[in-house]
Amino acid sequence: TTDTVCVVGSINADLSVVTEHLPQPGQTVRGGGLVVGSGGKSANQAVAASRLGASVSMVGAVGHDEHGGILRDALERDGIDITRVRSFSDVATGTALITIDREGENTIVVSPGANGVLGERDVELAQETIARAAVLGLAFEVDDRVVLTAARIAHSSGGRVVLNPSPYRTPHPDLLAMVDLLVVNELELADMVGADVTAKPWEDICRALFERFGIRSTVVTAGARGAVVLSHGDGTGPDAQAHVVPIAAITVDAVDTTGCGDAFLGAVLAGLADGRTVVDAAHKAAAVAAYAATRRGAQSSYPTDAEVQALLGSLDHDAAPA
Ligand code: RIB
Ligand code: NA
Repeated sequence: TTDTVCVVGSINADLSVVTEHLPQPGQTVRGGGLVVGSGGKSANQAVAASRLGASVSMVGAVGHDEHGGILRDALERDGIDITRVRSFSDVATGTALITIDREGENTIVVSPGANGVLGERDVELAQETIARAAVLGLAFEVDDRVVLTAARIAHSSGGRVVLNPSPYRTPHPDLLAMVDLLVVNELELADMVGADVTAKPWEDICRALFERFGIRSTVVTAGARGAVVLSHGDGTGPDAQAHVVPIAAITVDAVDTTGCGDAFLGAVLAGLADGRTVVDAAHKAAAVAAYAATRRGAQSSYPTDAEVQALLGSLDHDAAPA
């Protein structure tokens, strides 16, 4: 079948603490209890997609240690195929040190561990898994060659490649040439096309992404301010125009925004695999990300399909005339 999602990338143990204020350099602050959760940008995407009902496989690595075992088990419990998740014996499982303040804002330091050891060869060994997926999700918490190899396999077997270049570094043009959907925030967008371009109308930004990188489809996320979907035709004839569709923000009381971007991505992957348009998928993804902000942790905060529908239903109810 081709109705599946594959995610190639990072798996982390998230060690998080809530504090009143994020510490300044040189400062020590007192925090609440330590919470050990399941995270990693790519594992988060995989879990978000799976909870919404997609059939998901993951390609990645953990260390042969306690966290590694816990994280593998958690992915399996979420119904994810982890046949291609390796356990390396001489390296620690990836770990994220997360501090969260009272407004739900965070800072994250990642120690890559096994994610940094995952290589091209591991991706090649997972060729069949990647090739049979309809949609491939990629982020930047693993080596560039891992990302490029995975994109090549998916691209050459007709899968759609969705890239979230986070944590950000400038994506290689060879990679962008294979990307079917780019998901970026405004800072990442500014690096890619230049701040002079991002000051212009969305149509101009859409054209710049198409002309410079061949990218036809982009979601620009703006956190609590919503998102914009940019699509471009093939550059000729009546289909040449740039189309811009705003995605309204969903306002919630944020408790912890850790992994909300990954929740958005996972929902987009699930939507595309389900045959939805990018705009439809992004609408639902905005609700999934909003839901995730209202609960502690990354994967621990992701909704099932029924839970997102309930959130959307309660918003309709609020918006209904008295
Ligand atoms: O995007 C959130 C994620 O970033 C966390 O789960 C943490 O593991 C880091 O990778
Ligand atoms: Na959360």
